[in-house]
Amino acid sequence: MKIDFIEVAFPKTGGLVVFSFDDGPFSGFAKQVDEAGNGQLTRAAKLGKYNGRFGQHVMVVAPVGIEASYLLLVGLGKANELDALKARKIGGKLITEFLAQGETAVAIAVDVAQSSSLNAANLAANITFGACLRHHRFEKYRTGQRRYRKSTVDTLQVMTEMPLETEQSFTPMREVAMGVLLTRDLVTEPGNVIYPESYIEQIDALRDLGVEIEVLGANEMRQQGMGALLGVAQGSEREPQLAVMHWRGGAAEEAPVAFVGKGVTFDSGGISLKAVKGMEEMKYDMAGSAVVVGLMKALAGRKAKVNVVGVVGLVENMPSGRAQRPGDVVTSMSGQTIEVINTDCEGRLVLADALWYTQHTYRPRCMIDLATLTYAVIAALGSEFAGVFSNDDGLVEALTEAGGAVGEPVWRLPLTQRFDKLIDSEIADMKNCSDRPGDAIMAAQFLQRFVNGVPWVHIDIAGTAWKRESSNLARKGATGYGVQLLNQFVLDNFE
Ligand code: BES
Ligand code: MN
Ligand code: ZN
Repeated sequence: MKIDFIEVAFPKTGGLVVFSFDDGPFSGFAKQVDEAGNGQLTRAAKLGKYNGRFGQHVMVVAPVGIEASYLLLVGLGKANELDALKARKIGGKLITEFLAQGETAVAIAVDVAQSSSLNAANLAANITFGACLRHHRFEKYRTGQRRYRKSTVDTLQVMTEMPLETEQSFTPMREVAMGVLLTRDLVTEPGNVIYPESYIEQIDALRDLGVEIEVLGANEMRQQGMGALLGVAQGSEREPQLAVMHWRGGAAEEAPVAFVGKGVTFDSGGISLKAVKGMEEMKYDMAGSAVVVGLMKALAGRKAKVNVVGVVGLVENMPSGRAQRPGDVVTSMSGQTIEVINTDCEGRLVLADALWYTQHTYRPRCMIDLATLTYAVIAALGSEFAGVFSNDDGLVEALTEAGGAVGEPVWRLPLTQRFDKLIDSEIADMKNCSDRPGDAIMAAQFLQRFVNGVPWVHIDIAGTAWKRESSNLARKGATGYGVQLLNQFVLDNFE
């Protein structure tokens, strides 16, 4: 979608969006539009019982005398309650309406008076951001044949009294949006297209933004002693990869903030094979890694003043004659041994080595890992909250704050000795899962044994990374959850 920031004017074609506040008059431009159309907007508002409530809207075919195709009147709610998050939702909502209408060009007139928390430029920039996120659709595998083609909004004109300021305000947001959309695209790609080595090619594209990239193949990982990660990869024809991305935007001597992602490009369960129903969704088991990649893109894109290292463990979990068996014992890079009770608890095995390698190699000031780790976190928190687990209260507080600000909330779940004990093994240092309830916690306890005391947070995004229903800011499927959260977390705490 092409986005232009221009002065407020009557568009020659396409849909036109105008606003009003709760119980308030039409904006100045909305009034002009109404007058040019002989009071059609007033009439539509009355018939539609429209009073400017937040998110309320009426759409009409533009009356004779106006060149636009459709007029959309949107309520912004109470002026003093309007914040960035709400503005984003409005952007998402209005684009949804025009997508449904099949309109290809949209102009938005943001000429509403200053609200308390948002100046007009910021309001318009946030509306634009929301529109961008909701507009995105994965189209790569649709041929151009007419019956498969979908129309979309190609151009968006954001009209304000201060186009320059609006564009400036949108510039860093645009980079964040690009990061979110990259994450969604990677997650949506099927397992036959994204597998560890092809994934590396996608990651390599970040070099253009100044991200430095290192890759460890199976041999290098063997040299490092990453028996836990390699055991998972053993059943697959695809060679596993560990990619490291560096963004150095801070002082040379400053220790990096580390982000670590689970990148299981397809999780069949391995020999502990999953059931048929829903197995196709397990292409999204690399979402944690995709958030790390999208985050690196966002941070590099907006030239964040911070040193960050992103580490992703990429493997495919498949059954085969060479696959790891339930009962096998592997030795992790940390030296600790693991009895593999269930080959479907593979994410924690991948992260065990990725986390150990990250703290050992980069000595980060803190480590945040993201993973679609357990079904149990979906049972507990649904798809509204990601579950967080941590050895550091301050980090949890900072993440909770950031999540609230961007609408990607987290909810803390406990770590305790009692749960830790449950993963002790009869014949090795630990086992990768237990038959007791509380698997989201046990998975986190398992990870904690590999963080070596570094301030750390584990974010289980099994429920939030993928949604079966569309929302204001994302079509159903991959959400990109986590990129905005961590971008805000970095911005507020490390820049
Ligand atoms: N990738 C899954 C977790 C998952 C499930 C993510 C559903 C997204 C949606 C993970 O590797 C897994 O298979 N976990 C098992 C563990 C169980 C066998 C103890 C689970 O949660 O069912
Ligand atoms: Mn699994
Ligand atoms: Zn998995």
